[in-house]
Formats: sequence, C-alpha cells, structure tokens
Amino acid sequence: MESLLQQIKEHKAAIAAFDANNADEVEQFRIKWLGTKGLVKAIMGEMRNVPNEQKKEFGQILNEFKLFAEARFQELQDQFAGAATAAVSHSQDFSLPGDPVAVGSRHPLTLVRNEMVSIFKRLGFSVAEGPEIEDDWHNFGAMNLPEDHPARDMQDTFYIKKPEDGNGPTWLLRTHTSSVQARVMENQKPPIRVICPGRVYRNETVSARAHCFFHQVEGLYIDENVSFADLKQTLYFFVQEMFGKDVKVRFRPSYFPFTEPSAEMDISCLICEGKGCNICKHTGWVEILGSGMVHPKVLENFGIDSNKYTGFAFGMGVERITQLKYQVNDLRLYSQNDVRFLKQFTGVV
Ligand code: DAH
Repeated sequence: MESLLQQIKEHKAAIAAFDANNADEVEQFRIKWLGTKGLVKAIMGEMRNVPNEQKKEFGQILNEFKLFAEARFQELQDQFAGAATAAVSHSQDFSLPGDPVAVGSRHPLTLVRNEMVSIFKRLGFSVAEGPEIEDDWHNFGAMNLPEDHPARDMQDTFYIKKPEDGNGPTWLLRTHTSSVQARVMENQKPPIRVICPGRVYRNETVSARAHCFFHQVEGLYIDENVSFADLKQTLYFFVQEMFGKDVKVRFRPSYFPFTEPSAEMDISCLICEGKGCNICKHTGWVEILGSGMVHPKVLENFGIDSNKYTGFAFGMGVERITQLKYQVNDLRLYSQNDVRFLKQFTGVV
C-alpha cells in the first residue's frame, strides 16, 4: 500500500506541475488523466487490491486524488476559455454603434388600399384590374355616359387622342375605375363580384384638396336578387372594419349615370367625433363614396339580362380614406416623396 501512496503523491505533483499552452494540450491532459483509459481510472482500479480494513481510508485518498485531477482540468479549461474571449474582445468593440440598416416603409396609400382590398376579399370579392389609358367607350359610353352627356363635365378628362386627330376611337386617361367594371362585364358572366383598385386621372389644378391623379377602389356585384339592402350592408361592414364599430353611416340620394337609384354615403367624422371641424366642414359628416344599383342600360350594354340580374356598384377614393385614417390634410403630400412624411406610416398589409 506504501507504493500506491507514493504513486499518488507523484501523480499529484505531475498534475500540479502540468501547464498547457493551448486548448489542444488541455485536451491531451484530459485524455491522459481523466480519459476512459487514463491514469486516474487506473489508480482507482487499485482499490481491488486494498485489504478490506483499509478500504475506507484508501477510498477517501483515491477519491480526493480524482477530485484533485478534475479540479486541475477545470482550471486549465477555464484558462483557455478566458483566453479565447480575451482574443475576441481585443479585435471587436461591442460598444461601437451598429451600422444602420435602412428599412423602407410602405406608402400610406398602399397600406390603406391593401386593407380595403382585404376587407372586401373577406366578403368574397376578387380583384380586377384594367388599363390606365382607356378608350371612350369603356370609360364613358358603356357606363351610360354617351358623348354630349352633361355628366361628363363632372370629370375633367385628359384626352390623349380625339376623333379629329385622325381615325379611330378617342383615347384618354381613365377618370374613374368604373372603366374596369365595364371590362369585367364585357368578359365575365354573372354572378360577378369584383373590386377594382387603381389610379385615375383628372384635369384638375393641383392643390391641397384636388390632384390630377388619385386612387379609387370600385366595387361591382351582379347576381339574381341583389338589392339595395345588400349594398348598404356591404358598405356598412366595410366602414366598421376600416374605422371601428362606433362609426355611423348615412346615405344621401345622388346622381350617377351608371346607377339608378344612386346614393352617396357619409360617415360620422372621426376627427372631431361629430363636434365639427375643417375636415367635415362643421357638419359632423364626411362623404366617402358614391354608389347605387347598376343602371339596367349598363347591364344591357354587356348583354346581361336586366330582368334576371340586378347589381350594385360603388366607388371611393383611397386618398380620402387615408386622410380620415391618418389625418393627412394635404393631397400633395402623397406624391412628393418626402421621406419625413412617408416613414411615419407602419402597417403589416
Ligand atoms: N365613378 C364615380 C366617380 O369617380 C364613383 C362611383 C359612383 C362609382 C357610383 C360607382 C358608383 O361604381 O356606383 O366619382
């Protein structure tokens, strides 16, 4: 047993004297002493030869030796782990400010248009698009606005080509997305349930309240037994989803050549909550859309039997909805590309 004690003493000295220069050497130390074929295990195996009456005493000595070797290993390991961190902290200063990542944001009109589209999609509407350069028929004629119809004056038009410029039809920049309704009725049979988002153009002097281009979302629903009640409920659902459950609506009789009867819809002013402000011109109400039951003539223009089918249509300005949602009071801001304005809007859609 003397020789075992001697051996342990020598091992301890060797372990204490061991110094590693790098992590590899620490690993070698582990294999030599603590590995499955290492010296600590071998020494522990000597317990077999210790007489029973000395087992308790030797058990303690051997155990202490094992802990000694493990502690040294831990020390060496910490030393190199520390060194690795030190090396990193020399080359990198985590307190330096980061490189800014410029993240763009969606345009407020895009955000609002997407939200409008998603609300109508939930009601089963699908999206239809059409050209911004239109012929006279799709923009006016088919929508029950023949040439010389006085209601053409409601929309100051940018003409691209008139008959007097040469042969062929009149070409213009569409004044409303009702032209897309015309294209849908031309190509689809009822039931039809579409919304038509898009840019439209009018020959207006640019000011805070008017612009030569803006955006509309138009809707069209044609089927058997579609009634004015369907129109009202659809639009009521829309404003509640868009502006919240507290919003109130009212319909006023109006006139559009493509609908009969026609109505404009107002919502209670969200900015002053009905108390009266500049936006609602102190009436407590803001007009947000035009609507009505599709005029039988319009249906017949596309070969849709107006005795069998009825439909409703509506059209609204995205800028107006955005103005109410975000309280933007100058239409020009939308197209000036001023980042200070644009970066204020956030949204997921
Ligand atoms: N096209 C109209 C405009 O631009 C808006 C409108 C009113 C569209 C009534 C419709 C409608 O579809 O039914 O002023």
